[in-house]
Amino acid sequence: MKTAVCYYSRHHGNTRKVLDAMADEGNLDLIDVTTRQTVRLEEYDCIGFASGIYGFDVQKAVVEFARQYLPQGKSVFFVYTYGGAKGSGAKSMVEIAREKNCPVLGEFSCKGYDTFGPFKLIGGIAKGHPDTQDLENARKFYRKIQAQNPQG
Ligand SMILES: Cc1cc2nc3c(=O)[nH]c(=O)nc-3n(C[C@H](O)[C@H](O)[C@H](O)COP(=O)(O)O)c2cc1C
Repeated sequence: MKTAVCYYSRHHGNTRKVLDAMADEGNLDLIDVTTRQTVRLEEYDCIGFASGIYGFDVQKAVVEFARQYLPQGKSVFFVYTYGGAKGSGAKSMVEIAREKNCPVLGEFSCKGYDTFGPFKLIGGIAKGHPDTQDLENARKFYRKIQAQNPQG
């Protein structure tokens, strides 16, 4: 199965760490939505969208990327990391999937080290996350996604 994940990860690279763990399971292309590139998502069997939570929501750039490039009817999954209050979580990405008749295979989230604003003064929250257990859970999640999409 050929899979790509379109992602945004800036604060501490927490989301990227989760995606790197998933990529350990094989056959996963990671596409940073902020780098200018030609994107052909048609050639993948399954597409993930991933982001940290910033201001109680995923990064708009990821949602816009999905709106622009996600082909109709493609299987999708969602990944996000958050410091303590996930807010809307994957909701805005789920809405795009619905608009484009894309089956949602699953959603993975875990805590990610957060030193935003006042949290910096106390040394941050969700320290050490994603931790070993989070990354193992992420690998397990991706194995399940792969099992749902056996072609290729
Ligand atoms: C500007 C900003 C806003 C954030 N807002 C939230 C929030 O609303 N809720 C939350 O739980 N975490 C929030 N966080 C923490 C991040 O979601 C968390 O650290 C996440 O793992 C960052 O992912 P990244 O390292 O891949 O960018 C915020 C972080 C930043 C920098």
